[in-house]
Amino acid sequence: MPETVETQIFYLDQDNLDMRLIEIAAAKLRAGGLVAFPTETVYGLGANAFDPDAVNRIFIAKGRPASDPIIVHIHELARLEEVAVRIPDLARQLAAKFWPGPLTMILERSEKIPPNVSAGLPTIAVRMPNHPVALALLQIADLPVAAPSANRFAHPSATLAAHVHDDLNGRVDIILDSGAANIGLESTILDLTKTPPVVLRPGGLTLETLREIIPDVQVLSKHLRADEAGIEAPGMLYKHYSPRARLLLFLGGGERVILAMRTRAKQLLADNKKIGILAVNDEQSEFDGLAAHFFLLGSTLPDISHNLFIGMRELDRLGVDVILVRGLDQSGLGAALWDRLLRAAEGHVINC
Ligand code: TXA
Ligand code: MG
Repeated sequence: MPETVETQIFYLDQDNLDMRLIEIAAAKLRAGGLVAFPTETVYGLGANAFDPDAVNRIFIAKGRPASDPIIVHIHELARLEEVAVRIPDLARQLAAKFWPGPLTMILERSEKIPPNVSAGLPTIAVRMPNHPVALALLQIADLPVAAPSANRFAHPSATLAAHVHDDLNGRVDIILDSGAANIGLESTILDLTKTPPVVLRPGGLTLETLREIIPDVQVLSKHLRADEAGIEAPGMLYKHYSPRARLLLFLGGGERVILAMRTRAKQLLADNKKIGILAVNDEQSEFDGLAAHFFLLGSTLPDISHNLFIGMRELDRLGVDVILVRGLDQSGLGAALWDRLLRAAEGHVINC
């Protein structure tokens, strides 16, 4: 158990920042404390990236293994040199085009950044978040800030300040609350130490957009479709982004998927299980008459992405035993959604 601190919550209007509160949070970072802050993707749990003790507090607060490296956040391009060395031209080109924004680049780590940020790796993950609160905090703190998603290890990422509070109350000094994170899924991680570069995690910046700049960009195979990747047995996937409830992911074409979901839902209800359904808005009527908790994700990919983790956490709060959801189209943001669903399902994938 980490030492308990008194967690303060500061509400910030992102269109009219109260710089006094930002100053207090920045001072806390400079003093080695932990500050959770909103970004356009998900909330981050930040610490001074130059301070190995402060970074260590992140691992303890999250219950995160020290083998899992952390992303460093910067607010201006000039800071990149403090974080990384031998920066390739492509990285500068991508930064000019996509920063601030949901792209994290893996580069060679500068010796100014302590090894524990990167779990001992010679590389560093870095991004510039596109959120006025995050950018103001980074600027006033005048530091690069190491920040993983602000959730307990293996929980779904926090996209509301309330999620951060649920997971980290007593473990974080300050939570900056500026409402819901816009995108709702984490950044796209691109490894630029490889030729051609490799996407390690699909995210808020789509693969289609990346391919416009890097036509031969590779995608790590674990992000392929479950059938292509040959995932069958539960437990083969690294536990991550998971709700407490078991999540069942149904794959296949329209009618058959709905039928399979209905059949499974009825079996579970007959077994006295409490069930939740993460439904795309226009298909809720397909489940009429089922005694399930519904969470409506929306009908566009941006809405569904924005709501996915909110929905998982909401169904968990309602105490469901099993969550049923179907796989969606993998284009655009769908690739990141697909990845998060597959991991949350931990191998419980039903091909219809
Ligand atoms: O959108 C985001 O990326 C959010 C916000 C807060 O910026 N952050 C985030 O951090 O999702 P986290 O720690 O939950 O996920 C970052 C992942 C890690 O799990 C790790 O696998 C990968 O990035 N990563 C970090 N540094 C790396 C490195 N040097 N090499 C390879 N992978 C790395
Ligand atoms: Mg995370």
